[in-house]
Amino acid sequence: MARSSEQGSPAWVRVGTLLLLLHCVSVRGAALKQDLALDAGATVLNHSMNLVQRMESLLAMGNGSDVTLRVHTINTDEVKVIQAHSLVLTMQSDVFEELLLTRNSSTVVLRETSDCAAVFDKFIRYLYCGDVSVRLDQAISLHKLANKYHVWGLQQGLTQYMTQHLSSESPTGHVVGWYNYALLIGDTALRDSCLQYLSWNLSSVLQSGEWGSISEELLLSLLQRSDLILQSELELYEALEAWISHNQPVSATVESALRAVRYGMIPPQHLFRLQKQSALMLKYYEFIRDLLYLAFQFHSASPIQLAKYFDVNCSIFTPRNYLSTSWGSPWVINNPTRDDRSFSFQTQLGPSGHDTSKRVTWNALFSPRWIPLSARSTYTELGAMQPTRTDGGRPRIIITPATSSSDFAGVTFQKTVIVMARQQGKVVVRHVYNFHQSTEEVGDFLLDADLQRRASEYLIDSSLYLHVVIKPLYHTLLVARK
Ligand SMILES: *[C@@H]1O[C@H](CO)[C@@H](O)[C@H](O)[C@H]1NC(C)=O
Ligand SMILES: *[C@@H]1O[C@H](CO)[C@@H](O)[C@H](O)[C@H]1NC(C)=O
Ligand SMILES: *[C@@H]1O[C@H](CO)[C@@H](O)[C@H](O)[C@H]1NC(C)=O
Ligand SMILES: *[C@@H]1O[C@H](CO)[C@@H](O)[C@H](O)[C@H]1NC(C)=O
Ligand SMILES: *[C@@H]1O[C@H](CO)[C@@H](O)[C@H](O)[C@H]1NC(C)=O
Repeated sequence: MARSSEQGSPAWVRVGTLLLLLHCVSVRGAALKQDLALDAGATVLNHSMNLVQRMESLLAMGNGSDVTLRVHTINTDEVKVIQAHSLVLTMQSDVFEELLLTRNSSTVVLRETSDCAAVFDKFIRYLYCGDVSVRLDQAISLHKLANKYHVWGLQQGLTQYMTQHLSSESPTGHVVGWYNYALLIGDTALRDSCLQYLSWNLSSVLQSGEWGSISEELLLSLLQRSDLILQSELELYEALEAWISHNQPVSATVESALRAVRYGMIPPQHLFRLQKQSALMLKYYEFIRDLLYLAFQFHSASPIQLAKYFDVNCSIFTPRNYLSTSWGSPWVINNPTRDDRSFSFQTQLGPSGHDTSKRVTWNALFSPRWIPLSARSTYTELGAMQPTRTDGGRPRIIITPATSSSDFAGVTFQKTVIVMARQQGKVVVRHVYNFHQSTEEVGDFLLDADLQRRASEYLIDSSLYLHVVIKPLYHTLLVARK
């Protein structure tokens, strides 16, 4: 069984099969290990690669085989025959052990779906050699086999592979498929990684072919989230319209989906246009008449006036993470560890049509090595122990308005800093931090970024890539009203 020539560049998942082999084969495994430890002054002759090659040819030639695997593809008459060795199969799989103990002949018949049958050779080769090359479109099939035959090391390796390759380029997209699979097998960690990736990279997803194929359940769970990162709420509405026309769901689903759009976040001129020109809105106007009415009320006056009479603590007035310029700004910090850096930018006062012409200027300050007050007083007490430039200190960002204004009364501005990092050569959103004034409030701001290290995944061409979003929240107005 030669390594087949794969398209694209496969990733390799490798485990210490050989060590495992030594431990299992030798009844004196523990003694052997001790001998190795005592051999301190010795030189290692390392022929493990040769051993792997011999294992590979053992499988390919079938020498000394004591079991024949007949792999039937379900619903077809395709059969694949593999000459295997029961010792190798049972070493990593208690399922094979059970199958081999209860068999009546030297042949074991297995039934696999066509996607699993297609990668069955790879799977068996992994049991012999401890490595496997994986393509994006093979991860689920291999994971299913690892799961079925209880090859836990391979299963874990594949879960990790999927978590690390969410952003990889694929012609038809793969994250939605992985999400559905994770949901099916109840792998909540993988499911949440997929969901977070989709939420944080929504603009790309909305424009991809994958969007039309997402399930109703996934659509509705995305629409509920306030942490979606996308250009604007209008972008989401338009994508929803495309999804609905593609999938033609039952009207209860259309209603739930349409009611999850945050109309208050769409400027009134766009709402007017949608009301007259969006086929979806024309058809289902009655489902959202009350929400549109509320949105127009929101746009017609200052939110402070509105809050005197209405409950503004509901999702249609709660912003998501919008990247468009009225909500915030990108901030690229070159050589971030060098010194403190400041930055000014403007946003709209708020999304209400009443406030469209009002701008707020924000000052942001980035300190690469800021020492918390509590730590500073310790230094002073100890006298001599003054903090040095590189000693301790953590990154911090403070964002404050350049001028205060009576317009701000009762409005809390929540700041969100989106941090990009490089993953598998791609720029992806790595963290989203929410705070009111200072990242001190979140405690773990860039805690694991290690900006000193040149190779830090957070440095892209020696720069830290941030995007700051300012979100007015009107919750406190409710409290003020009481
Ligand atoms: C033997 O070599 C392989 C790669 O050729 C390496 O992965 C392994 O760690 C080496 N083992 C020892 C004991 O040096
Ligand atoms: C397997 O058998 C073939 C002949 O059938 C032989 O040429 C080859 O060396 C054998 N390989 C091993 C690993 O014993
Ligand atoms: C083995 O044979 C016994 C009796 O002939 C039969 O009941 C059992 O199902 C067989 N097992 C397998 C795995 O074919
Ligand atoms: C979003 O996904 C695309 C590919 O699907 C990738 O190229 C891009 O880097 C991702 N962006 C972010 C911000 O995660
Ligand atoms: C606003 O609503 C959220 C969730 O519905 C709730 O957790 C929060 O306490 C409310 N805030 C106020 C000020 O009522």
